[in-house]
Amino acid sequence: MDAPDPSALRALFPGLSRTLDGRPCVFADAPGGSQVPETVIGAMGSYLRTSNANLHGAFVTSRETDRLVEDARGAGADFVGAGPDEIVFGPNATTLLLSVTRSIARTLKAGDEIVVTRLDHDANVAPWLLVAEDTGAVVRHVDIRDQDVTLDLHSLDAALSERTKIVAFTLASNAVGTITPAAEISRRAHESGAVVVMDAVHFAQHRLIDVRAIEADVLVCSPYKFFGPHLGVLFGRRELLSTLRPYKVRPAPDEGPARWETGTQSHEALAGFIAAVDYLADVGRTFGPAASDDRRSLLTAAFETIGAYERGLSERFLQGLASLPRVRLYGIDHPAEMDRRTPTFAVRVGDRHPADTAAALGERGIFVWDGDYYAREVMERLGLASSGGAVRIGFCHYNTAQEVDRVLDELEELSN
Ligand SMILES: Cc1ncc(COP(=O)(O)O)c(C=O)c1O
Repeated sequence: MDAPDPSALRALFPGLSRTLDGRPCVFADAPGGSQVPETVIGAMGSYLRTSNANLHGAFVTSRETDRLVEDARGAGADFVGAGPDEIVFGPNATTLLLSVTRSIARTLKAGDEIVVTRLDHDANVAPWLLVAEDTGAVVRHVDIRDQDVTLDLHSLDAALSERTKIVAFTLASNAVGTITPAAEISRRAHESGAVVVMDAVHFAQHRLIDVRAIEADVLVCSPYKFFGPHLGVLFGRRELLSTLRPYKVRPAPDEGPARWETGTQSHEALAGFIAAVDYLADVGRTFGPAASDDRRSLLTAAFETIGAYERGLSERFLQGLASLPRVRLYGIDHPAEMDRRTPTFAVRVGDRHPADTAAALGERGIFVWDGDYYAREVMERLGLASSGGAVRIGFCHYNTAQEVDRVLDELEELSN
């Protein structure tokens, strides 16, 4: 039997039908943000059309909005494997991290240590550098291995000590696609008595998040990377959230996750978020098999299908790349290691500047990113930062094998 092909669902994404000069566009920009299914667009429009209001009013649209926020917390809980009281919303992951790190800073003192990694997006690095500036804490960096751009766990061990209070790391690199051994890093960090703060923004598009299995204390993700609207979601372990003190205005709630949410949320984005999680549950329902019909089981089944399909896309792309000697890849390339990467590839084509390659592909209707994509540490460490970073080609479950081949063909042409 053929393996399930979730790209069959691409017809549900209106954005994917776009053409340029009469040819279909290839959306290989998924690490920067994914397209959304019609149901997400519909849910946002429907909220704005019928229930648009602020919270806690004595009238029907406001009550509907209260319920919407509750439902969104339920969707967040199912998405990461937590309780609804552990889900906090904000404009994006960066803002949520800047906020929670400010509160964590209140618990630190000079000489305490914070461990960050060279694999991370700056959203989970810079806020800690600012905390260190404010508190006198010391920042230690976990290095990456040159050969495959994976985290160097010896370097992690060397950075950990009884002074370590925080270990901040990513579940997957948005630049090179490396998936980190999160449960193992978490275990080592907890042995040192540290709190772990995880960035799941890139990971969430490709694999199931299970905050209990990886023993997350804090974790962030962004629905606009997993087929939803622009929004940020933070998971905070119940006990931790209740002991930290958020920066908030006085009338805001004193209890529960809402005390972390400043000002008025984008309620329409919450409506779209629920629809995005339901879309993913439908992927599980369509391709199964799910252990049961509850949303978490369906999401588990969905990511099994998505993970397996994306491994195939990665293998195909890397196989093709192997016959293009002038295209250099930064990251895991061995077919046996597809479990340790997402289908996100950082490449350079000959001596071409990455911006030039991205523009040439863009003109041909292939959408990719160039630069550092805020993964500043990675690009500096790889020695690419001062010369334009790399070209990032990122696929997800709605991309097809034919699209992978078309990207390879264009890379071949550009490399000649
Ligand atoms: C790995 C990773 N972390 C954090 C971010 C920042 O997310 P947001 O735009 O929600 O602040 C991104 C965005 O590209 C990312 O890829």
